[in-house]
Amino acid sequence: MKHFINLDDLSNNDLTQIIDQAIALKKQHKSGAINNTLENKTLAMIFDKSSTRTRVSFEAGMAQLGGHALFLSDRDIQLGRGEPIIDSAIVIGSMVDAIVMRVSSHESIDTFSQNANAPIINALSDESHPCQLLADMMTYKEHKGDIQGKTVAWIGDGNNMCHTYMQAAKAFGFKLNIATPKNYQPDPVFVEKYAHYIHLFTNAQDACQAVDLVVTDVWASMGQESEQNMREIAFKDFQVNDKLLAHAKSDVAFMHCLPAHRGEEVSASVIDGSQSLVWDEAENRLHAQKALLLYLINT
Ligand code: CP
Ligand code: NVA
Repeated sequence: MKHFINLDDLSNNDLTQIIDQAIALKKQHKSGAINNTLENKTLAMIFDKSSTRTRVSFEAGMAQLGGHALFLSDRDIQLGRGEPIIDSAIVIGSMVDAIVMRVSSHESIDTFSQNANAPIINALSDESHPCQLLADMMTYKEHKGDIQGKTVAWIGDGNNMCHTYMQAAKAFGFKLNIATPKNYQPDPVFVEKYAHYIHLFTNAQDACQAVDLVVTDVWASMGQESEQNMREIAFKDFQVNDKLLAHAKSDVAFMHCLPAHRGEEVSASVIDGSQSLVWDEAENRLHAQKALLLYLINT
C-alpha cells in the first residue's frame, strides 16, 4: 500500500506516469467518455481547514470515476471532539478505500498513515501540498513541455507550497530560485535536504532573472490570519507584477495555487494576464487527482 504524503513518497517515474495519465484522463473526460474504474470505491475526506479546489476536485473526481466521496469536516466527526487520532485512523481506514486529509498538523497525517489500513493523501498540511504540485507540473507540461532543465522562481513565503516546489525541483529536474524576506525562508530541514536544487535570495528581482516560470502564494496562509498586517509589511517588495516579470524570460509562465489576493502577492495584471496559467492549473487539480486515486486505489 502506498501513501501520498509528500511528493517524494513516489518515484520520479511514478510521478511522471501519473501526470501523463492525468493528461489522458482530461481528454477522455472532455470527450464525454464514461470511466467507472473506481465503482464501489469510497474516499473519506477529513478537513479541518477551508477548501474550494481540493474539496471539489476530489469529490467530483470520485463521482466521475464511479466511486463515492465522504466529506468529513472536523466539526462533524468525533475526531474534532477529541477522539484519539489513532482510533479514528483505525476505524475510518477499515471502511474506505483511501483517505484524503487537510489538517493543520502534518504529524496527524503521519499518524493516520501508520494506523489506517488505507492509502493516505495529504491534501495540504503546514509542511507541504503535494496534490497541488501534480497539477502544477501537469499544467507546465501541457503548456510548455518538459520542465526538466528549466528554472523556476518561487516568490514570497517559504511555506508549505514552497517546500513542495523544493521537492518537485528534485523529482522533475528543474532549478528553483527562492526569494523570501529574511525571516520567512523555508524550513532549514528542507533547505539542507534540497540544497543541491535550490538557490535562496532575499531580492525578488535577482531570483527572477531569465526564469521560465514564476510562482507565488498568499503572504498569510490559513491559520496565520492574525499575522496579516505584519506580513503585508514584510512582503511588500515581493509582489509578482509586470515590473518583476520583466526580469524573467519573455515567454515566462505564471502560476499560483489560489486563492489569490490581487494587489498583495500578485498584481491583477499578472494573474489575469496572458502569461498566467492559473485557471488550467486549478482545473488540473481534478484530472491530476483522478490519476492519483487510480494509482493509489487500483494498484
Ligand atoms: N490550491 C488549493 O489547495 O485550493 P483550496 O484551498 O481551495 O483547496
Ligand atoms: N499556503 C496556503 C496554500 C493554500 C492552498 C495555505 O496553507 O493556506
